[in-house]
Amino acid sequence: MSEKVIPIRVERGEPPAPPAWDGAPPRDALARPLRDLRISVTDRCNFRCIYCMPREVFGPDHPFLPHAAILSFEEIVRVARIFVSLGVQKIRLTGGEPLVRKDLHKLVALLAPLGADLTLTTNGSALARQARRLKDAGLQRVTVSLDSLDDATFRRMNDADVGVATVLAGIDAAAAAGLAPLKINMVVKRGMNDHQIVDMARHWRGSPHIVRFIEYMDVGSTNGWRMDDVVPSAEVVRRIGERFPLEPADPHYTGEVAERWRYRDGTGEIGVISSVTRAFCRDCNRIRLSTEGALFTCLFGTAGHDLKSLLRGGGSDDALRNRIAAVWNARTDRYSEIRTAETARLRKVEMSYIGG
Ligand code: GTP
Ligand code: 5AD
Ligand code: SF4
Ligand code: SF4
Repeated sequence: MSEKVIPIRVERGEPPAPPAWDGAPPRDALARPLRDLRISVTDRCNFRCIYCMPREVFGPDHPFLPHAAILSFEEIVRVARIFVSLGVQKIRLTGGEPLVRKDLHKLVALLAPLGADLTLTTNGSALARQARRLKDAGLQRVTVSLDSLDDATFRRMNDADVGVATVLAGIDAAAAAGLAPLKINMVVKRGMNDHQIVDMARHWRGSPHIVRFIEYMDVGSTNGWRMDDVVPSAEVVRRIGERFPLEPADPHYTGEVAERWRYRDGTGEIGVISSVTRAFCRDCNRIRLSTEGALFTCLFGTAGHDLKSLLRGGGSDDALRNRIAAVWNARTDRYSEIRTAETARLRKVEMSYIGG
C-alpha cells in the first residue's frame, strides 16, 4: 500500500511516503502523460440541472462542504504550481459553479503567472457581471454550458428559474471581453432537449463560437441515467449535417475530448463529445483536484487520493510532488471503455464535487 485511498470524502491520515519523483514527466500505467488539471473551486451551484444536481438530492439539507474544509486560493495555487512543474499545460477551473466562489478573479490572477493555458467552465449566469474582471485577471477563455435556446426547456433542465437570455448575455459579455475561443456545451438528453440540436447549431453558425454536443453520461449516482436517454453523437452529426453539410476536421491535439466537425461552406465548426458511444480514455491526460483537496484520476471515480492532509500537515513541495507523481504512475482508469449497465449503477463521485 503506497497511500490511502479515500471514499469520496477526504479523511485525515498519514499515508506512508511515496517514492521520490525521478524527474521525468510522469506517465500513468497505460503510458498516458499528465497534461490537464481541472480544479473544482466549490461544490455549490445556483443551478440544479436534472442530469447533474437533481433537486431531490441536492436540496436544502444537502451537506455541502463547510468553508474550513475547502482549499484556500493559496493552497490551490501551491498545488497548481507543482502540477505545472510535472508537465501540466492546461488548467481549467470548475465547480459546481466556479463563479459562485467569492473573488474568483483573485484566484485567476494568482494562477495566470504559472503560464498554463487557463480556462473556466461556467453555467454563464454570473458571467455578464464577471467576464471583464476575469479577463483582466488573466483568464484566457471560457466554456459556457447552455442546454437549449428554448426558454421553457432550458428552465426545465436547470430547475433554477434562470432564463436563456441571462446566459446569452453572459456569452456576449465574455466575447466582448476577449475570452476566446468561446465554447458552448450542450448536454443532450433524449426527449428533453434533442429537438434543440439543429437550433443550437444554427444560432452560432457563422460566429467564432463553437457549440459542443455532449452525450448524457452516467457520472455520479443521482441522475437516474439510462442508455435510452443518450443521443449518440453520430445521430447529432447526422441531424445537423442534413441541414448544414459537415465534414470531419483534424483534432487540435492528442487527447482532445471533442471530435471536431466543420461546416462545408466555411461558416465555422461544431464539436461532439462521445464519452458513451466512442470512449476517448486511451489518450486521457486529465486529473481532477476536488474542492477539498482530493485527487481524482477519472471523472467516474469512486474514490479520491487525499492531498490535503499533506498540504495542511506541513508537507514540503517535494513531498507533494512525489505523492502526485505516484498517484499518476499507478493510474489505470478507462471507465468509458469498460462501461456496462452494472458499472453505471456504482456509487461514483458526483460531478459537482470534482468538476467537469
Ligand atoms: P478544451 O478542448 O480545452 O476546450 O477542453 P475540453 O474539450 O476538455 O472541454 P471541457 O472541459 O469543456 O469538456 C467538455 C465536456 O466533456 C465536459 O464538460 C464533460 O462533460 C466532458 N468531459 C471532459 N473531460 C472528460 C473526461 O475526462 N471524461 C469524460 N468521460 N468526459 C469528459
Ligand atoms: N452528462 C454529460 N455532461 C454533463 N455535465 C454535467 N453533468 C453531465 C452529465 N451527466 C456537463 C455540464 C457542463 C460540464 C461541466 O459538464 O453541462 O457543461
Ligand atoms: Fe451546476 Fe454545471 Fe451541474 Fe448544472 S451542470 S448543476 S450548472 S455544476
Ligand atoms: Fe479519462 Fe475516465 Fe473520462 Fe476515460 S472515463 S476519458 S479515463 S476521465
